[in-house]
Parts: sequence; structure tokens; C-alpha cells
Amino acid sequence: MAFAQQRILIIGGSNGMGLAAAQRLARAGAEVFIAGRSQARLDAARAQIDGRVATLVIDFTDAASLAGAAAQLGRLDHLVLAASSEAAWGPFAQTPADALRRALDNKLLGYWQALQVMLPILRRDGSVVMLSGAASRTAMPGTAGLAAVNGAITQMAQTLAKELAPLRVNVVSPGLVDTPAYDGMPADAKRGMFDNAARHLPAGRTGTSADIAAAIEYLLDNGFTTGALLDVDGGARMSL
Ligand SMILES: NC(=O)c1ccc[n+]([C@@H]2O[C@H](COP(=O)([O-])OP(=O)(O)OC[C@H]3O[C@@H](n4cnc5c(N)ncnc54)[C@H](OP(=O)(O)O)[C@@H]3O)[C@@H](O)[C@H]2O)c1
Repeated sequence: MAFAQQRILIIGGSNGMGLAAAQRLARAGAEVFIAGRSQARLDAARAQIDGRVATLVIDFTDAASLAGAAAQLGRLDHLVLAASSEAAWGPFAQTPADALRRALDNKLLGYWQALQVMLPILRRDGSVVMLSGAASRTAMPGTAGLAAVNGAITQMAQTLAKELAPLRVNVVSPGLVDTPAYDGMPADAKRGMFDNAARHLPAGRTGTSADIAAAIEYLLDNGFTTGALLDVDGGARMSL
């Protein structure tokens, strides 16, 4: 049980990659705390996890909600930042600066403030994993907004790996992964996007939340890895 006695908070643990990470880490013996804004989604997620898991309602854009959770938790060994709910998609010429501002406020400032509030309760030599995104590792037209947000997260994480040492700070950069994040898309458009990506990716398929969960577990577990950026994207940065 690699994670026995370890307390791990996963913000964004009620869906997609965060939920898959919670399932994997609970199986590995961790005491997992999954967080998100909706108690109903957290309850549904908890029902899908075998092992020690508790839920916390947190909106990571709200410092007071993070502070309340930190007080409840008291101590943590690891923090996984896997949430986002605003993305600035689309061609540059048609993407208003406000869309980028919302996305930065949500994901970049959300990660920033979540780590800042949890830092005092994180084990000194524990670790943090942040999820960025493959758009920041390629030059894909129509994704400049995604690239800006996720590129900023990667650079921030590398500086923090040095500034906050011996706390380890690492990043997983996921490629296209079928999660509830795409539930709002028309089914045909979604299938077209995933089929097209699978055809072009060296891996011959798009990703699963389980692919990303395995990478998160590796980075949490490996005490000699910090400031790392792990691309788990089927080779997207070489093909798209
Ligand atoms: N899916 C992809 O293809 C893909 C590709 C590249 C990068 N990524 C990145 O990978 C990460 C995980 O993506 P995913 O597809 O697994 O997402 P997802 O399925 O949409 O799940 C997002 C999770 O974040 C939570 N969340 C959203 N806003 C929140 C907030 N303000 N405060 C706290 N929790 C919040 C959601 O719960 P509530 O809604 O209940 O709050 C949910 O648990 C994200 O950072 C995303 O940008 C995804």
C-alpha cells in the first residue's frame, strides 16, 4: 500500500481525471478527500470509490471556501489540482479578452490560491500535482487561450518547485481525454473531434481518465521527481 497513512486532497475529484485519480489512490491505501462545488456530484463520485474517501465542498475561486476546507483538513501529504470550469477556446480573432480573463481567473488563479491556502497544512516534503493541458505544448490554431492558461501554470509550477522545496511540485499535461468536460458538446461534433484526434495521434487513440490518474500517482509517489512536466497526450505535441 504505497500511500498508506497519506492524506491527499483532490480539487476537481468529483469528475473526470480527478475522480479517476481518487479511485486509484484510494486503492493504493491513501485517505482521499475529493473536492468540488457540487455536493451531489461529490456524493455520486464517492459511491464509485473503494477505500477511504471523504468529500469537501470547495470552490477554488473562493479563498474563504478554501480556508474553511484547510481548517477542516488540518494536515495533508499531497494536493492534486484537477479542476477547471472556464476555457477560452476558439480562433484568436474571435475570442474576446474577457473570455481569456475568465479562464485565467478560474484555472490559473484557482490553482494559485488553492496552493497558497493549503500550503501551511501541506507536509513540508509532500507534493503537489497540477493538471495543465496539451494545447500549451503544441501550436494548434484555435487554442491560444488554452495555451496561455496552461503554459502559465507550467511555468508557475516549475518556479514553485524551487521556491517551495522540499515540497515537490509537478505538472501533468493531458491531451484530449473523454471526460464530462465535453458533455455540453453536440454528440456528433464531439465524436468528430475525438475520431479526428485519434486518427492523427501516434498513440492511435485519445486518452482516458485512467491514463492521467496513473501519471498523477507516479508523480505523487516518486520522491526524486520535482519541477517535472509529464506529457500524457498520446504524442499530441508531435502530431497536431
Ligand atoms: N478533458 C480534456 O480533454 C482535458 C485536456 C487537457 C487538459 N485538461 C485539464 O485537466 C483537468 C481535469 O479536466 P477534466 O476533463 O477531468 O474535467 P471535468 O471532468 O470537467 O471535471 C472538473 C472537476 O473540477 C471541479 N470543478 C470545476 N470548477 C471548480 C471550482 N471552481 N472549484 C472546485 N472544483 C471545481 C468539477 O466539479 P464541480 O463542477 O462540481 O465543481 C469536477 O470535479 C482540468 O484542469 C482541465 O483543464 C482536460
